[in-house]
Amino acid sequence: MIQFLLNREPCRIERLDPNLTVLRWLRERRGRTGSKEGCASGDCGACTVVVGERLVDETGAERLRYRAINACIALLSSLHGKQLLTVEDLQQGDHLHSVQQAMVDCHGSQCGFCTPGFVMSLFALSKNAAGFDREEACAALSGNLCRCTGYRPILAAAEQALGQAQADSFAARETEILAQLAAIAAQDAPQLDDGAARCLLPRDLAELADLYAANPQARLLAGGTDLALEITQQHRRLPLLIQLGQVAELQTMRIEEATLDIGAAVPLTDCAPVLAADYPDFGALLARFAATQIRNQATLGGNLGNASPIGDGAPLLLALGASLLLRQGARQRLLPLEDFFLDYRVTALQPGEFIERILVPRPQPGHHFRAFKVTKRLDDDISAVCAAVHLHLDGGLVREARIAFGGMAAIPKRASQCEQALIGRPWAESAVERAASALEQDFSPLDDLRASRAYRLRVAQNLLRKTWLELSQPDLPTRVTDHV
Ligand SMILES: Cc1cc2nc3c(=O)[nH]c(=O)nc-3n(C[C@H](O)[C@H](O)[C@H](O)COP(=O)(O)OP(=O)(O)OC[C@H]3O[C@@H](n4cnc5c(N)ncnc54)[C@H](O)[C@@H]3O)c2cc1C
Ligand code: FES
Ligand code: FES
Repeated sequence: MIQFLLNREPCRIERLDPNLTVLRWLRERRGRTGSKEGCASGDCGACTVVVGERLVDETGAERLRYRAINACIALLSSLHGKQLLTVEDLQQGDHLHSVQQAMVDCHGSQCGFCTPGFVMSLFALSKNAAGFDREEACAALSGNLCRCTGYRPILAAAEQALGQAQADSFAARETEILAQLAAIAAQDAPQLDDGAARCLLPRDLAELADLYAANPQARLLAGGTDLALEITQQHRRLPLLIQLGQVAELQTMRIEEATLDIGAAVPLTDCAPVLAADYPDFGALLARFAATQIRNQATLGGNLGNASPIGDGAPLLLALGASLLLRQGARQRLLPLEDFFLDYRVTALQPGEFIERILVPRPQPGHHFRAFKVTKRLDDDISAVCAAVHLHLDGGLVREARIAFGGMAAIPKRASQCEQALIGRPWAESAVERAASALEQDFSPLDDLRASRAYRLRVAQNLLRKTWLELSQPDLPTRVTDHV
């Protein structure tokens, strides 16, 4: 059985297909049709709902954290122990919620399909922001696509709603909801099963390791932002899932003297500030990784486990020299990330083995890190080329170079010939040109709908030249938007 709250209503579900998405459950089983299905692939935001989660800090103090997610690619098991809020829940007695009222006042309700999703993204923003900040509002809405009129009235609604923050019924009921969620957390062995398909929800690392070792054919479900597409886009039915959401050890982060130690199931929203503090380019790139709703669900472990050649996490982590702590039953092993990707979507993971933690070396004096994501549009788009350059410069010489790319080969990969053309040589334009030419030996990229082979190679070479310009002329104008 899994348990969660639908607003204030306790839901206990035992026999149900674990392949069912939150959106289908809401619309088909509960008749809640306010949340819409636009794309069923996490791209448009029409299905946006908000999930409330119980957070307990080191002092034992509890609070509810609200986050927007895409219901179309969230599987129902991900709700265990949480509160689900949809657009139907927002009304405050006889009045609209302040974000709904602002959408009315500012003429932000442009079409019935997208408006519920916009409202829920604004509601989540109102629960997390201290006041109105245009950039923050744009980021919060970057996963809600409007193809008709535009965003101006919706941003005006955000400004009105956040400018006059009002306490709502959700704030008034926080203690009551926290107590209900705490009671659910004490439940034994949650699972969802309809006789043909099953989802197991281990409650700690040892239980996860034992379950997966005993059932290596199971599919691990972290945020599900890749896995759920197999269900919604490829119409597969996955017979056995192991959900990682209840394993607290996988959600922790430790900032150590030499290493950032990140649990595999930490959502990107949570690890982004930690990575950005050490490596600002990592943070800037993660701000362009999908959109808010996806980053609230997606994990770094899932990004690597998915092993896509165009995943954004891998090239950056390869350039930084990251390692993975892998676990299979009671056995752990440390593997450099560059030994993890073997072939197209094939990794070094053994049956029943999973990524437990991601270990990222911290910056050293003389080190420089640059990361670039080249896409057709700025927000919410997949990379044609993703590049990361990590150099150790010492007295004008390149002591160490780790340069990695996504979108250039069947796996995310270091550019070893390019690196060799730089190491031990003066950091000078002539060396950079030789290194750019060497990229033709490192990679023979494919033509596909995102970019041609020639374009990918040219872009990769130009990103190396761009690194040279940025490091040699630090006063160049701002860098993030010109990555497109
Ligand atoms: C609309 C949209 C936009 C996207 N944009 C981007 C983007 O800009 N950049 C990008 O890189 N990706 C993007 N993605 C892909 C996806 O969001 C990321 O790859 C994400 O990090 C996957 O994490 P997850 O937790 O959701 O993984 P899941 O979907 O839960 O899992 C993915 C795979 O990894 C395996 N897995 C999960 N956790 C582990 C573990 N601990 N050990 C071993 N295997 C594991 C799963 O079994 C599965 O095979 C996008 C996806 C969508 C739907
Ligand atoms: S329906 Fe488009 S993001 Fe969910
Ligand atoms: S609000 Fe729906 S397309 Fe613009």
